[in-house]
Amino acid sequence: MKRTHTCGELKINHVGLEVKLSGWVARNRRLGGMQFIDLRDRYGITQIIVNHDFADYELANSLRNEDVITITGTVVERKSKNPQLPTGDIEINLTNLVVISKAQTTPLIIDDKTDALEDVRMTYRYLDLRRPVMQQKLFLRNKVIHLIRNYLQSKDFIDVETPILNKSTPEGARDFLVPSRQHPHSFYALPQSPQLFKQLLMLSGFDRYFQVAKCFRDEDLRSDRQPEFTQLDLEMSFVDKEDIIAIIEGLFSYVMKEALDIEINTPFIRMDYDQAIDEYGSDKPDTRYDLKLTTVNDLFTATEFKIFQDVLKNNGTIKAIFIPQQVDKKQIEELTRIAQQNKAQGLGWLRLNQNQEWEGSINKFVSLTEKDALQKIFNSKESGTYFFVSGDYQIVCQALGAVRVQLAKDFNLANPNQFNFLWIVNWPLFEWSAENQRFEAAHHPFTSPTQDYLATFDCDQANARADAYDIVLNGYEIGGGSIRIHRNDIQERMFKALSLREEEINDKFGWFLNAFNYGVPPHGGLALGLDRIIMLLTNSDSIRDVIAFPKNASGLDPMTNSPSLVGDEQLAELGIKYQK
Ligand code: AMO
Repeated sequence: MKRTHTCGELKINHVGLEVKLSGWVARNRRLGGMQFIDLRDRYGITQIIVNHDFADYELANSLRNEDVITITGTVVERKSKNPQLPTGDIEINLTNLVVISKAQTTPLIIDDKTDALEDVRMTYRYLDLRRPVMQQKLFLRNKVIHLIRNYLQSKDFIDVETPILNKSTPEGARDFLVPSRQHPHSFYALPQSPQLFKQLLMLSGFDRYFQVAKCFRDEDLRSDRQPEFTQLDLEMSFVDKEDIIAIIEGLFSYVMKEALDIEINTPFIRMDYDQAIDEYGSDKPDTRYDLKLTTVNDLFTATEFKIFQDVLKNNGTIKAIFIPQQVDKKQIEELTRIAQQNKAQGLGWLRLNQNQEWEGSINKFVSLTEKDALQKIFNSKESGTYFFVSGDYQIVCQALGAVRVQLAKDFNLANPNQFNFLWIVNWPLFEWSAENQRFEAAHHPFTSPTQDYLATFDCDQANARADAYDIVLNGYEIGGGSIRIHRNDIQERMFKALSLREEEINDKFGWFLNAFNYGVPPHGGLALGLDRIIMLLTNSDSIRDVIAFPKNASGLDPMTNSPSLVGDEQLAELGIKYQK
């Protein structure tokens, strides 16, 4: 037997017991002629005490951090107790020590707090994952997945696996391709999501499907994006939007209560896409703080300020936000950079300082009457800072929305212990791609138009609305879904509205459309971004922290050094040559 107990288990009622423990040396220190070893495993830390008369005193003395040992000893009550530690009332009087495996000095300190660079943490991910804080994240992830399975199974959902080697079907992002050895010059694609397969499962009559599904997207990475990530994917038949929303709200109530003992209010607030863009400049607004975007065109109809005059002449928009804080020069520089990154020409600002004097980049262009009107609109007699973006409506919203998010970060406006779930509904069905000069699907091409647009969606693309919904938590999109098109004629019209040619439709989706000839239930579903949810529930900065073995910010795995070159022989088998 390697152990009788774990390192997190022993309490005062075990005093007198002879025990055997195994684990890693977290600390080995001498104090007043005595030696203390902190022994760690996933369950906790137990203090081992080495007396002078211990036979292998030298061996105990030579132990270094992260050596793996097995010890035998007697549980004794501690003289100076440690209330911070669950095992803090006791210690083990060492009677036998076996060193199982020696450790070199680790390249990072195994402690909750680390100043190791992320690439070092990822190169030695197995060490990084020894840190209790990282283990807690994966334990919570495990718990949430377990709870999700419990909940969905109890609601008659069936867990079905769908293929990883697929036909390449465009779904928004770029595909990862896998060359086929047996069929030279042909490629599989890794799934961006199980979308088409889950719809086919509805056609097969499974009625309620779910899967914890790995998805792959070759897109630019961010702190909430990985090339390989996990969805909680589900689909239901004979339902409308309300049925799906009800299941998801029930699921989150259950998970939040069972995993974190947090009661959340249902139903979740719903917000129209247009309102989200107009007031928050984002389709995933963080509603934990206000700081809304306000259109101030009416204030400047008689303005002397040339830039605003021109914007109004060209039917543009002027929006402003107000924060009752003195935002300083350095912060304003950073905010200006963010606005410009989001395509704004610039970021205008006005500040009423504590002496009630106006200052700012557009101070001399804005009249006192206009300043008065501003204060009225924002109900802001006190001092503070106003920010302005003007120009094209979409750009104004997006840029000022990004400024809003940064201000909230700078001034800690969001309560980290608050969970604001929100549905964004009434989405556009299409979005105009300036790059490709055509309408593209705002979600994916299998999303149904709302009833109101069933007749006109393909000739009125700019206005058509989708029967789609996204779920947002604290400023992150944590899921999205829709009611699907279940009629062949509508699906074909949709492909045409997306300017897909007949051959293209047949080649890419013929197999899928064919299935629609054999009796299709109305259906819809949703997929949750599991990594993002766990990131938010654990207050982590990045989804990399809640994935056991993630890729770094540039899509590499520094531990295995992948992606990497492969040998000519392997390439030849696949009929592939490097292009010089
Ligand atoms: P969608 O593309 O919105 O929908 O994806 C669903 C959710 O998955 C998460 N997500 C990601 N998480 C980490 N890294 C990524 N690269 C990444 N991309 C997406 C987000 C997102 O909300 N098949 C549809 C769902 C449906 O219609 O049922 C789909 O995949 O949290």
